[in-house]
Amino acid sequence: MGWIEFGHDDATAARIAVLAEQIAHHSHLYYNLATPEISDAEFDALWDELKSLDSEHPQLRRVGAPIPPGSVKVEHRFPMRSLGKATDDEEVSHFVAETTAHGRRFVAQPKLDGSALSLEYRRGRLVRAATRGSGERGEDVTLNALRIPNIPDRLSWEGDCHVRGEVVMHLEVFREKYADIAPNPRNLAAGSLRQKNIDAGKGDASDLAFHAYDVLFVPDDEKHPDSPEALQFENDSEAIAWLRDVGITPAEEVIIEGSNDEDTTQGLLDETKRWTAGRENAPWEIDGVVFKLDNLAKRELLGQTAHHPRWALAWKFPPEEATTVLLDIDWQTGRTGAVTPVARVAPVVVSGVTVENTTLHNVGEVERLGVSIGDKVRVVRRGDVIPKIIETMGPAQASDLEGRFHADGEQFAGALPTSAPPQIPTDCPECGTELSLDGAFLRCSNLSCSARLARSILYWCRALEMDGIGEKLVDQLCDAGLIKTIPDLYRLSTEQVLGLERMAEKSANNVMTQLDATREMSLDTFLSALGLPGIGPELATAFAGEICTMDALICLSDDDLGRLIAIEGVGETVAYSLMDGIANRSEMMGDFNQLLNITEVAKTEDPSGPLVGFSFCITGTLTRPRKEIALQTKAAGGKVVSAVSGKLDYLIAGENAGSKLEKATRLGVKVLNEIEWEAMLQP
Ligand code: IVH
Repeated sequence: MGWIEFGHDDATAARIAVLAEQIAHHSHLYYNLATPEISDAEFDALWDELKSLDSEHPQLRRVGAPIPPGSVKVEHRFPMRSLGKATDDEEVSHFVAETTAHGRRFVAQPKLDGSALSLEYRRGRLVRAATRGSGERGEDVTLNALRIPNIPDRLSWEGDCHVRGEVVMHLEVFREKYADIAPNPRNLAAGSLRQKNIDAGKGDASDLAFHAYDVLFVPDDEKHPDSPEALQFENDSEAIAWLRDVGITPAEEVIIEGSNDEDTTQGLLDETKRWTAGRENAPWEIDGVVFKLDNLAKRELLGQTAHHPRWALAWKFPPEEATTVLLDIDWQTGRTGAVTPVARVAPVVVSGVTVENTTLHNVGEVERLGVSIGDKVRVVRRGDVIPKIIETMGPAQASDLEGRFHADGEQFAGALPTSAPPQIPTDCPECGTELSLDGAFLRCSNLSCSARLARSILYWCRALEMDGIGEKLVDQLCDAGLIKTIPDLYRLSTEQVLGLERMAEKSANNVMTQLDATREMSLDTFLSALGLPGIGPELATAFAGEICTMDALICLSDDDLGRLIAIEGVGETVAYSLMDGIANRSEMMGDFNQLLNITEVAKTEDPSGPLVGFSFCITGTLTRPRKEIALQTKAAGGKVVSAVSGKLDYLIAGENAGSKLEKATRLGVKVLNEIEWEAMLQP
């Protein structure tokens, strides 16, 4: 595979290759053939050595033979069921009444709107990850799941269990990196999980997060002979706490307990209100609240219908949707060259806002929806997200246009358009360049396309807070041919600006002052304002912290790939977006260098200290509080963890150390006393 070893000497590189091959061989024997030739401890030693030499080595992400995501079906050992749904208060009180004989204590969690995933751990190692699929059978997506940062490849409990949860994308990441390639974070999460390789044009699984809501233990007669026995908890809340302990991130939970049906129902309803208010601030999309009886034995007694368990209920936010008529589709070229369809619809109120324009995202979405001009369409608006068309209901009737008003109260006077399929453009609506299809997108490749230019200039001015330069002025400057690239802004003279229609002297001076104020900026500000496709402000700052100077930015080459992908949150796709973005603008970069003073950014320091790269766990009674030892360890660059696992480098053990010490000894983890630990702190 095309993995590049960076910065290793020959001997180390050779050792890495040998280790990777041995791990591949023994994983195959263990996981696929169930005929291990070496002990677990020996296997762990190989694994840990490879990890210490190259913590990013792809073999550490693989389990057994690598299966391309989405190509193999997986029979779920425990079916993945649906949930009974409720949208109004009566249904909640009905649920409480139906379960009340079995207790009035419920676990409440947000209902995360992503893609369900089942993680199968054997002997504490992730051996398989599968999508929900039909509930009985899903798809093997192990390789992508292993890229999700908070999915551990090992638990600190070395047994057999299935962990279920939802894979979601952080809304901020979605808005920054993907808003123009996918209609919503849920589709993107599902697509990123199932894509066959990370360059398939979907999202990168490393931008996803996993939130668990359930764990099921493999019965003792089926478990691996060396695995500990299945755990038994009395309550779900204990299972959730246990998940947290072994390294899994559960969905946040609260316990609601009432003394009678009324106050229990009220407790659940209050929780739905709390989430209704909190929904907009949630970092992920949520579509409701899930209530589950906490007591696990009582869940057994209630059982399930063919479709869902009787002990759980999903309360869903009321839908914010309405129907209207699709009047026309306009195509607009954006800053990155993507040509997006904008739907013009008859005015419709969705969650209190009058909507007349909605996005159709991309040509792929237009085709997927199969909409025609003149169709009756369903529009939804969730949270603060732009309203979108989710479905066509076929040709509209004239009556569908009755009683419609614009936002200003004026009656809508438009007529029903003749039914016609949408016209997909072949050339850029702005500059006429032939469009190419890039995944689900039509793209204009002309970097000086006027639409791209106007939008990237506006983006530049907004990023640099030049409020005096708005959309109208940018259009005027472009139309007059005064600016053909962003650097041209800095070649403008007061006379040229004054020469524009309806431009007063005061405004012209203000424009010039604002431009002058941005002739000097730091590299991170520059990269943010440039707005290269796929590179939002956060990534721009991260890149600037590594690249530091404008000269180094201009000279980026394939040789820099290694240090770029070493930046947290940067993969190959993003690194290439930067390198290609800069390479395609080489002339513009030269102009910037001449016209502006782009100042150096200090290099983002790697953590430093004698303990960098080592993990520590602290146990037993020591001469000072454990917290203090933890702080000092961190200050010296070490990582402090709460559980002992085969991955741990050192256990710092004091007097009366119990199970942790026992486990560390069993796993061959090095044990330090306080004096040995102090010695390690010396530089
Ligand atoms: S509990 C027996 N908890 O909702 C079912 N599900 O409509 C156990 N979901 O397929 C599911 N957040 O993917 C549960 N906090 C949460 C959830 C959650 C999202 C999804 C889940 C399930 C679907 C059912």
